[in-house]
Amino acid sequence: MSWRDFWNRQSNSIYVNARHSQAHDALVAQGIAGLVTSPADCVLDYGCGDASAADLIVSKCAKLYLFDAAPNVRARLSARFAGRAGIELVGDESLTSIAPASLDLIVVNSVLQYVTQVDFETLLDRFHMRLKPSGRLVLADIVSPDTGAADDAKALLAFAWKDGFFCAAIAGLARTFFSDYRTLRAQFGLTRYREPEMIALFAKHGFAGARAAQNIGHNQARMLFVARPV
Ligand SMILES: C[S@@+](CC[C@H](N)C(=O)[O-])C[C@H]1O[C@@H](n2cnc3c(N)ncnc32)[C@H](O)[C@@H]1O
Repeated sequence: MSWRDFWNRQSNSIYVNARHSQAHDALVAQGIAGLVTSPADCVLDYGCGDASAADLIVSKCAKLYLFDAAPNVRARLSARFAGRAGIELVGDESLTSIAPASLDLIVVNSVLQYVTQVDFETLLDRFHMRLKPSGRLVLADIVSPDTGAADDAKALLAFAWKDGFFCAAIAGLARTFFSDYRTLRAQFGLTRYREPEMIALFAKHGFAGARAAQNIGHNQARMLFVARPV
């Protein structure tokens, strides 16, 4: 089993219950909506997951493209959003349906830890080609080699306490401990970057980027980077 197979499942133990999924999707959508600077913006949410709160993002921009690598996630996106004004579902990972130099904002939240560095570098070139010269690439929830599973668990419990699913989070962490997620995390690991490495990768692929003060979502031990084509 690979990370792609894991995310292609109909359900997993990462989201401990429906309340957690809803609170997570709402927080991520708020974070992405907060990055939109004009109602005319065209935005791509890459590796969007179920994106159940995408309506909030679409209310702030002209067009929202959604793409996820997992076919089952894409089928759920299609069931939820097909034909929805302002939302376009992207079917292939080379993003050929998106015109070159047409995007104002690309957001990749909590995805790159499941992507090898080689594939990430291919993605950087793909993103560069589709961003307007004035566009921004936002990479969020980037895992550093200096943080571990215990930091993730601590952040989840703090989020759960605030949002009223603390007991479910404890049970969910126990389920995750005995699940394929832990096996995969041990087998393949998560792809991690330190700040200088990420900035060097931006430069190698024609971007100028820097770390921002706040991450999207509940885990502030993870990093957010904003990059612009140069
Ligand atoms: C932790 S979820 C994050 C979903 C969403 N971005 C969020 O923040 O809620 C990771 C998502 O990345 C997707 N994914 C993994 N590898 C990918 C890739 N190479 N390209 C696009 N999506 C990918 C998975 O299918 C999964 O839906």
